[in-house]
Amino acid sequence: MRKKIVAGNWKMNTLPAEGVELAKGVAAGKGEVCDSVNFIVCPPFTHLHSVIETLKGTAIEVGAQDCATEVKGAYTGEVAASMIAALGCKYVILGHSERRQYYGETSESLNKKMARAYENNLVPIYCVGENLEEREAGRHFEVCKQQIEEVVFNLSEEQFAKLVIAYEPVWAIGTGKTATADQAQEIHAYIREVLRSKFGAAAEECPILYGGSCKPSNAGEIFSKADVDGGLIGGAALKAEDFLGIGKAF
Ligand code: PGA
Repeated sequence: MRKKIVAGNWKMNTLPAEGVELAKGVAAGKGEVCDSVNFIVCPPFTHLHSVIETLKGTAIEVGAQDCATEVKGAYTGEVAASMIAALGCKYVILGHSERRQYYGETSESLNKKMARAYENNLVPIYCVGENLEEREAGRHFEVCKQQIEEVVFNLSEEQFAKLVIAYEPVWAIGTGKTATADQAQEIHAYIREVLRSKFGAAAEECPILYGGSCKPSNAGEIFSKADVDGGLIGGAALKAEDFLGIGKAF
């Protein structure tokens, strides 16, 4: 049985006090959701400490949205994986399309970030996905395969066993357009096949999350698909009720 995960990517939203309130709201409602669903919240760096303190003793885990390529040193503005881990973070989102698109994230930088994450016992949530032009040209399979081959294929078996993947079609992120459940299943199954070609049976254990305009009203259908193991949620993670509602969709 693969882990079921609902992860909230808060992006650059909420002030610290609002983040704490949101985390409290999620914790308060978690009991209404099936125990087998693992909730993760990924606030901005500035709220990690307070959100982790707020969620202590609850089943909700915390992740960061990125980490630095380097271990430490003169890298103004960067946040090291070791710093995040020391706060009590368990996860780190890597390769989100917004970072690839706006901040020049490449497979080269992502290989370094993956290494930093594993050195610090952080579980990477590695994001892949095509943009609209690539989807329309029928290149979505090829794009996801390349994003996986260039980064995930460099992991050891032991590292791969801890990885979480998120498939997020760029055309569905924050646009209100979701992939259909069948489109999601088609590409999730394909991603798992790519993983199987390298890691064999271990690919069956890797959670693959769907992301892109996921909300309580559409999550049930998407999550019902065999290779969809949960969601990486942006907009709908900013309201505790909606975020929990997505968890209830399982
Ligand atoms: P969205 O974002 O749910 O707002 O579309 C998903 C994501 O980017 O992780």
